[in-house]
Amino acid sequence: MEKLWAGRTAGDVNRAADAFNSSISFDFRLWKEDAEGSAAHARMLARQGIISEEDCNAIVRGLEDILKDIETGRLAADPAAEDIHMFIEAELTRRIGDAGKRVHTARSRNDQVALDTRMYLRAAIDHLSRSLASLVGEIGAKADEHISAVMPGYTHLQHAQPVLFSHYILAYAFMFLRDMDRLSDCRRRLGVCPIGSCALAGTTYDTDRAFEASLLGFDRPCENSLDGVSDRDFAVEFLSAASICMMHLSRFSEELILWSSSEFGFVEMSDAYSTGSSIMPQKKNPDMAELCRGKTGRVYGDLVSLLTTLKGLPLAYNKDMQEDKEPLFDAVDTLEACLEVFTGMLRTLKVNERAMLRAARQGFMNATDLADYLARRGVPFRDAYKISGKAVAYCIECGKTLEDLTPEEFKIFSPLFDDDVYAAIDIASCATRRTSFGGSSPESVRKQLETIKERLA
Ligand code: ARG
Repeated sequence: MEKLWAGRTAGDVNRAADAFNSSISFDFRLWKEDAEGSAAHARMLARQGIISEEDCNAIVRGLEDILKDIETGRLAADPAAEDIHMFIEAELTRRIGDAGKRVHTARSRNDQVALDTRMYLRAAIDHLSRSLASLVGEIGAKADEHISAVMPGYTHLQHAQPVLFSHYILAYAFMFLRDMDRLSDCRRRLGVCPIGSCALAGTTYDTDRAFEASLLGFDRPCENSLDGVSDRDFAVEFLSAASICMMHLSRFSEELILWSSSEFGFVEMSDAYSTGSSIMPQKKNPDMAELCRGKTGRVYGDLVSLLTTLKGLPLAYNKDMQEDKEPLFDAVDTLEACLEVFTGMLRTLKVNERAMLRAARQGFMNATDLADYLARRGVPFRDAYKISGKAVAYCIECGKTLEDLTPEEFKIFSPLFDDDVYAAIDIASCATRRTSFGGSSPESVRKQLETIKERLA
């Protein structure tokens, strides 16, 4: 097949080199953006009197037909086309003749691919943001459903202080809200349009880049043509935001994997989101959560891959940049799939409130509250801390919990202990009395749920 760029070079390209050079197998997914971008370009060219109205109409109609045919599966990628841009242009020319050959006036594939990728990512971010919003909504619903369930809180994965389960999982809701912020921040910078930068230096034609940018829903054209065709910051930014989001999904997955083990037994995943073992009949495995955790490494790889591709590139376009697409598309697909499955897994998750409370009763998680009790009665906190520690050591010695101690036993450690000490160290109340702003109390959790609702609205 004769290349659209044949001229300076002649004869067939080596078959392996041709296949090596081709990107249509992965950039075909930019078909919509590419056709829409070309239609806007034709409109701008006609408005500026660079091409005729007649040619413009033929181009726009031809592109609309191509869009329809790809959408309905009547037109498929030609593996011999070098990339999506060449494919659409060649198909257009095949359909409408000479007018098709005019669409590439005052542009280049370099600004075209930068445009298409930005448009693609813009739509992908909108989709991902909606998926994140439903995940946050699902976490809120779970928290609401189990608002007063008490569970162990950990530091160093050691029993620390009791917390509300609702408080615990809302921590993740706030992480995902920040992920949404990062995506919308990235989307804001995506609002700058590279088309019209041409190959690298702009053009001698009297183009109207601002008009073309606005046709395509951008805020403004980029200020520097060299930057326009060389910049892939937006993709790196997205991959960073996606990596952080995957890191959050991975941490949450890790918790759910631990919690669904027999040792914890805090949650049970629905059969619809679990798998069995090929040999051990009793097994129910949390594969979905494990895959979310596992795929995190892959998205990190996408980020590092693009950063590395870009780091030594001189201005302006270099073919290396074609390597931006696979990691970008992979990260979009992976994050989207993880969000969808994770959200469903969470929605159908059974929470075992009794098991969580039982675990919260172990490990002297009310020892801080015992110290606080004495501190409130005037004992300096550091001394109260020592006394509480001694009471814990005593309990370990005789196999008791702090709440098992008799009033007489409490008096061994301090004469300030009274009967109201039992209420002060009641495990559930240890969680619910943490009424400080952002603490584990039900009032705080309700406030958090309100905030989340407002942020989602
Ligand atoms: N397929 C190319 C890419 O994805 C399009 C730009 C090619 N430009 C060029 N001058 N070879 O980067």
